[in-house]
Amino acid sequence: MIKSLQNQITQTEQTFETDVKNAQSIEQLEHVRVAFLGRHGKLTELMKQLRGLSTDDKRVVGPQLNQLKTRMQEVYEQKEQQLLKSQQDEQNQHKKDFDVTLSRKQDVTGGLHVYTQIIRQLEDIFISMGYSIADGPEVETGYYNFETLNIPKDHPARDMQDTFWLNVPDMLLRTHTSTVQAHVMETTQLPLAVFAPGRVYRNEATDASHNFMFMQAEGLFIDKNVSMSNLLATAEQFLQAIFERDDLSIRVRPGYFPFVEPGVEIDAECPFCTDGCSICKKTKWIELLGAGLVHPNVLKTSGIDQEKYSGFAFGFGIDRIAMIKHNIRDIRLFQSSNLEFLKQF
Ligand code: DAH
Repeated sequence: MIKSLQNQITQTEQTFETDVKNAQSIEQLEHVRVAFLGRHGKLTELMKQLRGLSTDDKRVVGPQLNQLKTRMQEVYEQKEQQLLKSQQDEQNQHKKDFDVTLSRKQDVTGGLHVYTQIIRQLEDIFISMGYSIADGPEVETGYYNFETLNIPKDHPARDMQDTFWLNVPDMLLRTHTSTVQAHVMETTQLPLAVFAPGRVYRNEATDASHNFMFMQAEGLFIDKNVSMSNLLATAEQFLQAIFERDDLSIRVRPGYFPFVEPGVEIDAECPFCTDGCSICKKTKWIELLGAGLVHPNVLKTSGIDQEKYSGFAFGFGIDRIAMIKHNIRDIRLFQSSNLEFLKQF
């Protein structure tokens, strides 16, 4: 019995020393300490065995166990000091190696969505021309989306834009930002010049150039003696500014929109080529704006005296402008969370 306990004492001392020696960190050393010196550790277990010995044997083995304990504590403390010191050395070295001039690894940082960027550019252009920025609700009534724009109930022009009707009578997701026209006319003193970018919705199948949700902008200018030449000058200046080409010319074709009379479509010369490219589909012109002189019925509905005042309005797709500017091939990318796409801007 005594022999076996003494053997265990020797063995415990040896394994403890090896384990302590092998510990590479404070954490590992702590594991060893718990296994040997902890409350349920090896040393406690040996102490328990002491109880079974005769008084004489106890006198022999007791001091041996005490010695073992002291020795183990010494070995442990020595190692602990050593590990703490090397940890400290390592930290000091890190501090020494820290180079404040080093450039950071490429971090993933957020950025403004291409929509936001282009809307800010557009707003800057129109603000520089004296316009204010207007906004309107995306959930609209048939009244603002159609009636105020000279599209009465049952008029075939309602089918020009496929509408998402809501389950609430006469409520819909606006199909164009022209809805802002009447809101502004009802609340703003004349003369007025507003620019209203925002999201619009169309209930139609999607493809590379159509989406069910996209960005439009509406412009409205009302004053005394506003004529078609004011509209064309404004369109030209705006298109030259957004495409950053002050020699860009525009072309005007007749177009039908119920809320303007006469109505026109305005094209810009292709900013990328002189003799036809893939962006202008070899036509040298890019169709961009719907526009015209505000229809007298529209002025009347909003309570504006059409004898005194006239105005022009125009609308365009912001996605389309961005697609042309940045050569983006698929309109659906704007609403996607495709990081490869988004990171480019
Ligand atoms: N609202 C029209 C559309 O969504 C665009 C438009 C055309 C706006 C002519 C206008 C305009 O103000 O005069 O297709």
